[in-house]
Amino acid sequence: MSYDLVIIGGGPGGYNCAIRAGQLGLKTAIIESRGKLGGTCLNVGCIPSKALLHASEYYEAATKVFPSMGVKITGLSLDLPQMLKQKEDAVEGLTKGVEFLMRKHKVDYVKGFGAIAGAGRVEVTGPDGAKQTLETKNIVIATGSVPTPLPGIDIDEERIVSSTGALSLAQVPGKLIVVGAGVIGLELGSVWRRLGAEVTVVEFLDKITPTVDAEISTAFQRTLKKQGVKFELSHKVTGVEKLRQGLQVTIEPSKGGGARTLDADVVLVAIGRKPFTDGLGLETVGIKTDPRGFIPHDGHLKTTAEGIYVIGDCTTGPMLAHKSEEEGIAAAQIIAGQWGHVNYDIIPNVIYTDPEIATVGRSEEELKAAGVDYKVGKFPFMANSRARTNHETDGMVKVLEEVATKKVVGVHMVGSGVGEMIGEVCVAMEFGASAEDIARTCHAHPTMSEAIKEAAKGVDGWTMQA
Ligand code: FAD
Ligand code: NAI
Repeated sequence: MSYDLVIIGGGPGGYNCAIRAGQLGLKTAIIESRGKLGGTCLNVGCIPSKALLHASEYYEAATKVFPSMGVKITGLSLDLPQMLKQKEDAVEGLTKGVEFLMRKHKVDYVKGFGAIAGAGRVEVTGPDGAKQTLETKNIVIATGSVPTPLPGIDIDEERIVSSTGALSLAQVPGKLIVVGAGVIGLELGSVWRRLGAEVTVVEFLDKITPTVDAEISTAFQRTLKKQGVKFELSHKVTGVEKLRQGLQVTIEPSKGGGARTLDADVVLVAIGRKPFTDGLGLETVGIKTDPRGFIPHDGHLKTTAEGIYVIGDCTTGPMLAHKSEEEGIAAAQIIAGQWGHVNYDIIPNVIYTDPEIATVGRSEEELKAAGVDYKVGKFPFMANSRARTNHETDGMVKVLEEVATKKVVGVHMVGSGVGEMIGEVCVAMEFGASAEDIARTCHAHPTMSEAIKEAAKGVDGWTMQA
């Protein structure tokens, strides 16, 4: 078979690239080895985690929030198998939907493991071991990422789990120890805490979510502590011993010192993800990975090999589904001879806990380190009328404007539903908005998004609270 484009990997990067390529008339094939399209995101990432976050939030609200709103429930109980089933149903529906989109856009879906076999050739090993070779003018590598292992600790996906196992625990653990206070640890830790687990998070650094603006991350940690999450900051896990019943986890201060042990029923290892390029045949076309295993590109998704492009988690930049999607679409357009572009300065980041974290652009720490002169506007949800009526007053919005350009260069929020609110800020920033542009845009009342308008007013000192 001869193609214009063969995509290796059927995640959000790969399948969005395939759809756009199909729309642009390129004869396209997509190769996927896991038996289902959708990649990490749809199968064991974004979608199942959000299904559990949503359901567990309702469960907790029913016990902790409803009574204060005058809604009484008696006999409330958890049906975990049903909660896990509705998560699987969401995954199944969406992965089937992606398969339908491949057919709709005349993309060939080839099941199997793809390996580059020299310029313009991809060898596919099917589920039955049979091999076929696809000839192609262009290749897009979209092979994604896998969890980073913790040396000396073997994941069994039952008692010592990665995010994949943590999405399908057969029962609520009495004690859950999470290694790593990053996005996965705090999202999935929240799920199981809401369902009844006692959660302790062990983090190597002295703060949680280390890449988030420090003021927002501190406010976030305060709320998580109020919810009952325990933290062992500046600590590392050095061993996990499997006992007949339960686990014994050894932790030590990151900078050295005496070891202690903690009891656990389940340990979730969530210390980051690493690019996956095993068996990909990069050596056949002279592509070299960087020291951390990522495939580099020239700024326009082109690798060092002619006609071979790279997108998503296996290349540089944030490991996010929407970043992979943007790159997939850009790569298809570039291959079709059109303009393709990703604005890496405006990629939002959302942590779907309660409260949520939503950030875009640069943090105060980054601006200070770069010597950029900036102004700050802030507004707490405590002073927002909708947050008050919803009993969701934890959190704040912070807007950062660069003095020299009068452009908004960062917005950082912690609060209920802020993940849905960050979109307006991304649009404003794409259009080069100043804080005053946002402040003078009429926002509906009463909405949580009025807090963005007020924080933007705060940049020039005329927020309602001034
Ligand atoms: P992937 O989705 O990893 O897809 C790559 C695919 O390639 C895989 O299906 C793999 O089987 C296949 N593959 C690999 N090698 C080969 C080969 N040689 N031949 C054939 N197939 C191959 N991101 C967000 O933006 N929002 C979220 O809410 C979010 N939640 C997450 C929750 C969890 C628990 C996890 C683990 C991740 C989450 N992410 C989230 C991250 C997101 O899943 C990834 O950024 C995204 O899936 C990356 O897309 P991708 O297409 O680059 O790679
Ligand atoms: P992460 O990079 O977000 O966090 C890992 C944390 O583990 C960091 O705080 C780090 O300091 C800590 N750590 C590293 N080594 C450690 C050790 N030995 N002991 C203790 N702590 C240690 O990684 P995470 O949570 O695994 O997620 C991986 C990626 O998946 C994220 O970076 C993100 O790109 C993506 N993701 C995105 C989501 C979203 O957008 N909502 C949800 C889940 C994952």
